[in-house]
Amino acid sequence: MTKDLLADLAARRSTVLAGGGEKRISKQHKMGKLTARERIERLLDKNSFVEVNMHVRHRCTEFGMAEVETPGEGVVTGYGTIDGRLVYIFAQDFTVMGGSLGEMHAKKITHVMDLALKTGAPLIGINDSGGARIQEGVDALSGYGQIFYRNTIASGVIPQISIIMGPCAGGAVYSPALTDFVFMTQGANMFITGPQVIKAVTGEEVSAEELGGAATHNRISGVAHYMATSEDECFEQVRSLLSYLPNNNLETPIRSEATDPATRVDTSLREVVPLESNRAYDMRDVITRVVDDGVFFEAQEHYATNILTGFARLNGYSIGIIANQPRVLAGCLDINASDKGARFIRFCDAFNIPIVTFVDVPGFLPGTNQEYGGIIRHGAKMLYAYSEATVPKITLIVRKSYGGAYLAMCSRDLGADQVFAWPGAEIAVMGPDGAANIIFRKEIEEADDPEATRQEKIAEYRERFANPYIAAARGYVDDVIDPAETRPRLACALEALSSKRESRPAKKHGNIPV
Ligand code: HXC
Repeated sequence: MTKDLLADLAARRSTVLAGGGEKRISKQHKMGKLTARERIERLLDKNSFVEVNMHVRHRCTEFGMAEVETPGEGVVTGYGTIDGRLVYIFAQDFTVMGGSLGEMHAKKITHVMDLALKTGAPLIGINDSGGARIQEGVDALSGYGQIFYRNTIASGVIPQISIIMGPCAGGAVYSPALTDFVFMTQGANMFITGPQVIKAVTGEEVSAEELGGAATHNRISGVAHYMATSEDECFEQVRSLLSYLPNNNLETPIRSEATDPATRVDTSLREVVPLESNRAYDMRDVITRVVDDGVFFEAQEHYATNILTGFARLNGYSIGIIANQPRVLAGCLDINASDKGARFIRFCDAFNIPIVTFVDVPGFLPGTNQEYGGIIRHGAKMLYAYSEATVPKITLIVRKSYGGAYLAMCSRDLGADQVFAWPGAEIAVMGPDGAANIIFRKEIEEADDPEATRQEKIAEYRERFANPYIAAARGYVDDVIDPAETRPRLACALEALSSKRESRPAKKHGNIPV
């Protein structure tokens, strides 16, 4: 090997490592953003990153591009580890032509996507890009198409995580949208059409932040699942999320060493939920008392807050939690909550994560808004997702569970393997007030004192039906438990279900109502 060859290699490497050069890097830093390489270094285990395809170059000759150098082609790709586990990664380099995506930039990304799929390792994409490289025309569009196709093929096989740390506009948003979890940092934005186009077409004025910032997509659109005020906070969130997931659909999540005894009882659980069925409380106060060390790692914490979704551990096992939140809209299921819940259930099922459902639900949200918006087909997603799921499914009814929502929150009939209820639980077609008004209408109308009779009939209905024992007598509820013993009972059920096997008829794929 001659010295010249090695010097040439070193020079080539250093050109690529310099990215878009000092001026553009310092502009990136001034905006509070790290470079693509710095991001990878911070996210992955120290010194674990191995770069691939660093010498790739573009092939465009249009618009003077033949003379334009794009070190690394505007994207850094490779693999490394997080907590010692293999992940594949790409990070768009905004300092090189604004991280814009052309034919060869896309080829670098699709190569690591292929490797991730072949090796069964999670894929992480860090997006910071001006979108399709305008000079490359249809080749850039084709590049996006290649990525979307692979996102879809890999869906349900490996976890796919998108991190948005700068612009992500136009059709480029659809790759993150096809992945499992979208993280956004403050200052990043995602939109199909930007503020200028909106102004030109509709006259509406809106800032980029308001239109597609992290808060918008976490709170309003539901496009994103996590937001962070800094890039480091975001990386911490990504690492936490990965700790609950297996590397692929053929593995189970790693069981962590439990420090919180599975036998721990908690008498305060007897007081957390008010007995009056319409009094609000925070369901998180129940969940955190039950799971290991009180840690509930929520997904989509700020969206459709009438339902809670997230990960936790129970006796060291990773679990997915779906729970009604009585503090918001009385915990009703509506369109957005159904979408949020159903997608989360399907993720857990795809990646062998048992599902624990905490129920306190008065029903589906009534109103023309909901009916016109298609609550029928959206609500059906919950039924579909739970019925389809073959992972262990454990349901706990903590207070009320009425009507279609009783079924939609993983009742026995939708395949719950173990159903528990607390003694104050009410399981019925509807709440006692509504039920008494309908079935005792005549008696109430004809009574001398209709209001007193109504109250009497409500009490009679409640006494007779609004308890967990009729459901338990029919075997829809496996046991009525002391709230204090919830953790040991759920942990024991989970252990007993850990070898669960259930198959479904062979088919090309189902047709979930979308
Ligand atoms: C080529 C691009 C580019 C692009 C940015 N650059 N976007 N080059 N194609 N799409 C280059 C700039 O020329 C500039 O080069 C450098 O990247 C940094 O861009 P600036 O404009 O200086 O940065 P900033 O002021 O921070 O603005 C960032 C920006 C803006 C908001 C993203 O660059 C912008 O609006 N870009 C175009 C966005 C766009 O319309 N993209 C196409 C979307 S349609 P120099 O040499 O000066 O550093 C699309 C379709 C996808 O993506 C379809 C998929 C199905």
